[in-house]
Amino acid sequence: MEKIIKKAVFPVAGLGTRFLPATKANPKEMLTVVDKPLIQYAAEEAVNAGIEELIFVTSSSKRAIEDHFDKNYELESELEKKGKTELLRIVQEVVPANVTCVYVRQPEALGLGHAVLCAKPVVGDEPFAVILADDLINCGGNCVLGQMASVYNDQHASILGVEEVPVDETDKYGIVDPGETDGRISQVRSIVEKPAPEDARSNLAVVGRYILTPAIFKYLEKIPRGAGGEIQLTDAIEELLAEERVLAYRFAGKRYDCGSKLGYLQATIEFALEHPELREAFLEYLMSEFGQAGKGLLKAIND
Ligand code: G1P
Repeated sequence: MEKIIKKAVFPVAGLGTRFLPATKANPKEMLTVVDKPLIQYAAEEAVNAGIEELIFVTSSSKRAIEDHFDKNYELESELEKKGKTELLRIVQEVVPANVTCVYVRQPEALGLGHAVLCAKPVVGDEPFAVILADDLINCGGNCVLGQMASVYNDQHASILGVEEVPVDETDKYGIVDPGETDGRISQVRSIVEKPAPEDARSNLAVVGRYILTPAIFKYLEKIPRGAGGEIQLTDAIEELLAEERVLAYRFAGKRYDCGSKLGYLQATIEFALEHPELREAFLEYLMSEFGQAGKGLLKAIND
């Protein structure tokens, strides 16, 4: 029988230093875009792609994430008493009934590769997804992970979600060297973590969505520390290439780097302009405050 992707790993133990002081006591994944924390957008993307087990790799300062996905009896009974049925539904649907949340601790901040390795006992011997919540991707109805899961079901190979980035930004990403390409899919020839622009083989960057076969774990167990002194998922993928095909998938959708203040603000404005409750009033505000710029926005949205 065909193996499908049922588990997703969310590495959420990182410190979020780019967003201090906001992230001093609050996890960066709990930063809110309009009315939902980033981690909920990521979880919803996974659930929409058919994932049934959400595995959070967490640390002591991230308890708010567990609370967010847990039942809140007090809040629910208050909402029920007050007849606020719509809010009650929103709160209860944060995690659908068929979905399980599992929490694994990453005892030391040793990097993304180490975080994924911490999930090994829960993932076991099956292909799985990895989602980085600060890469928020808006794809309308067809979420990136869903697109990638379809490719996996077809190709049975590890898949990296990629997009082109400005050439002078290659040192922020895992950069792939694409080989044979068919539409949105390329064979990966090699992958390097955060190469300087002059060393980068391309400007095709991995942006926070992976489907990996379980073979990745044996490489994560043995690779030395790489860029930034951390155990890099990218380095394990480079090793995996000697054993298995890995594909780069140019997803359809718009990505916001919500780990940066600018990307976060862009996401907030664009998600607000799509929010049914806010859209009109927010547009009116933008038009009255920013005049022509607001009209330009209105036109762009209506076109
Ligand atoms: C991580 C990965 C990098 C990837 C990036 C996507 O880097 O190590 O390969 O391109 O996420 O956002 P980080 O942003 O954690 O430094």
